Amino acid sequence: TGTMRVNSKGHLEVGGCDTLDLAKEFGTPLYVMDEEQIRKNCAEYRDTFKEHYPNSQVAYAGKAFLTKAMCRLVDDEGLALDVVSGGEIHTALAAGFPAEKMLYHGNNKTPEEIEMALENGVGRFVVDSYSELELLNALAGEAGKVAGLYLRIKPGVEAHTHHYIQTGQVDSKFGMGLADGEAMTAVKMAAKMKHVELKGLHCHIGSQIFDLKPFQMAAAVMVDFMQEIKKKTGTVIGELDLGGGFGIRYTREDSPYSLSGFVELIAKTVKDKCAEHNYPLPKLLVEPGRSIIGEAGITLYTVGSVKEIPGVRKYVAVDGGMMDNLRPAMYEAKYEAVVANRMNDQAEEKVSIAGKACESGDMLIWDIELPKLQRGDLMAVLSTGAYHYSMANNYNRFPRPPVVFVKDGQADLVVARESYDDLVQNDIIPARMQAPAA
Ligand code: LLP
Repeated sequence: TGTMRVNSKGHLEVGGCDTLDLAKEFGTPLYVMDEEQIRKNCAEYRDTFKEHYPNSQVAYAGKAFLTKAMCRLVDDEGLALDVVSGGEIHTALAAGFPAEKMLYHGNNKTPEEIEMALENGVGRFVVDSYSELELLNALAGEAGKVAGLYLRIKPGVEAHTHHYIQTGQVDSKFGMGLADGEAMTAVKMAAKMKHVELKGLHCHIGSQIFDLKPFQMAAAVMVDFMQEIKKKTGTVIGELDLGGGFGIRYTREDSPYSLSGFVELIAKTVKDKCAEHNYPLPKLLVEPGRSIIGEAGITLYTVGSVKEIPGVRKYVAVDGGMMDNLRPAMYEAKYEAVVANRMNDQAEEKVSIAGKACESGDMLIWDIELPKLQRGDLMAVLSTGAYHYSMANNYNRFPRPPVVFVKDGQADLVVARESYDDLVQNDIIPARMQAPAA
């Protein structure tokens, strides 16, 4: 996808950069992000919404991938930002991202995090429980501010990739229930509070969803609830945030709908439902993460040990694994890979791609047909832009890989490779344990 192609040397090229040159310059493992593709995805969301629902705002969900350079890009493309922690807020502020364009999520924001968000003028607080509502009101009071509030609702539609279910969905740590009156009670509580202002409602039904139906159902449920609030309390809700979740392609088995089709459908559903209730059109928000960044990223690895267990399996190990890609181990996520230095070679054997962490479950891909691999080959795993760098960890004390943005033949480092010194920089040896002097 994007600017990915095979060049005249038979190498994989992204953003006009030969991946072999990238590997040479920055080392492996390496996250490579196609900047043009990211910008295209931002623009497609933004422009399709503007066309079908002018009073709208697309907020990029930073949890998918957030660095200072990414914040600059998101701001540049006119998107708002969904943040979920003090760390994400700090990153965005450090990049000069406007605080008023941040929506602050999370089911357990600490008092310190809320204070930090209030102090810096974060635009919207998405509140998840009575307990948090009370905390926010109290802290905003102390800060002498009025916090812009969304309530996170469980719309009773839950989607998991290819399936969705309608449930009372009582048992989830996120959101407030409709059927049990929890959400309505929160609306009434907020109305009595002096230091919060109920600006809108929010829901998020899941992630990596291919079916458009659950989005449509959730949108309809939310507008119905807005109407119920209006009837019972007279309050007109001015903003509706339908969360993220639009699926992307990881392997050839995945065939998501077009992004613009998804946007059109959401816009239409909200408009139709509001017309039905004669309800003034709210400002409409969505919070895509994966569908902005996921397919724009690849990870480059160098092939190392190859181990064949005759008649059983051939393991090909690469120089990364669950430290830079936790998704196969956590979700049994599937990926495609290519041999970046020999793109024109035919697939000739079935292998499994292993990581190098001390964990049997550290497998990146089970059973993939590839050209015969040898030590030193450059492998690219595809669609690794979302929830890879952001979920990377230091298991086994492997330093986290760098991230480069590529565009028009230029590669810019946006996150440097962690060094061994970085790994020990916060380590402290208590005085009583100091090594004896030599
Ligand atoms: N808004 C809210 C409130 C969310 O909780 C999420 C994702 C998003 C937006 C963005 O959803 P997206 O468009 O990226 O699907 N680590 C998992 C995904 C966790 C998603 C959590 N919430 C994975 O690697 O698949």
